[in-house]
Amino acid sequence: MRRPWIVGVSGASGTPYAAAVLRALLDADHPVDLVVSRAARLTIIDETGVPFRDAHWHTDLESWLGRSVDADRVRFWPAGDFAAGPSSGSYPAAGMIVVPASTAACAGIALGLSKDLLQRAAEVNLKERRRVVVVPRETPVSRSHLLHLVSLVDSGAVVLPASPGFYSGGAQATAQQLVDFVAGKILDACEIDHDLFTRWSGTGLKRP
Ligand SMILES: Cc1cc2nc3c(=O)[nH]c(=O)nc-3n(C[C@H](O)[C@H](O)[C@H](O)COP(=O)(O)O)c2cc1C
Repeated sequence: MRRPWIVGVSGASGTPYAAAVLRALLDADHPVDLVVSRAARLTIIDETGVPFRDAHWHTDLESWLGRSVDADRVRFWPAGDFAAGPSSGSYPAAGMIVVPASTAACAGIALGLSKDLLQRAAEVNLKERRRVVVVPRETPVSRSHLLHLVSLVDSGAVVLPASPGFYSGGAQATAQQLVDFVAGKILDACEIDHDLFTRWSGTGLKRP
C-alpha cells in the first residue's frame, strides 16, 4: 500500500487549487488523507456553494470535486481531532500539501502552534523531514507573512505561492488552466507525474 499524501485545506481563497490537487492525486492512484480547517469550510462554501460537513464529508467531497470519490482512497480527519493518525510522526505519510495556505496557517506551522490537526500534521511532517508543500494565497503581504514563509523554507518546506504562469495557455488561458498550472507545480514538487499543463520546451516560441 502506498503511503498517503496528507492534504490540508486551510481558510484562504483558492479552494479550486485544492480541488485540482485532490483530483490529480486520486487520478495518480495516490491515497489521500484529508484535513479541512474550520475556516476552510467558509471558503469552500463561498467559492463553490458546497457545504463541507465532517459528518457528510464523503458526499460533500464528491459535490465539491464534481465526481465520485472512492471512499477507500480518501481518509478524512476532523480538524479538531488531535488523536488522528497524521498528528503523529509514526503515521506513515508520504508528506503533506497545504493548499491553499492562509497566512494564519503559515504562521501557525512556522511557529509550531499546532492549533488544529492541519497545523500539527504539517509540523510533524517537517520534523520527520518529509516533503511539505505550502501554497500561500494572500496579496499584498506584510513583513510578518514573509518572515513566516522564510521560516518555513528554513524548516525544509517548499513554499509554492498560488502564482499561475500564463505561458501554457497564453492570453486565452481559462481559469481552469491557470488553476491546473499551480496544481501541476504542486505535483511536480511532490515528484508525482501528471498532465495538468504543457511543459515549456523552448522550441515553440516564434522569436522576434
Ligand atoms: C471568504 C474568506 C476568504 C478568505 N481569504 C483569505 C485569503 O485569501 N488568505 C488568507 O490568508 N486568509 C483568508 N481568509 C482569512 C482566514 O480564513 C482566517 O485567517 C482564518 O483564521 C484561517 O484559519 P485556518 O488557517 O485555520 O484555516 C479568508 C476568510 C474568508 C471567510
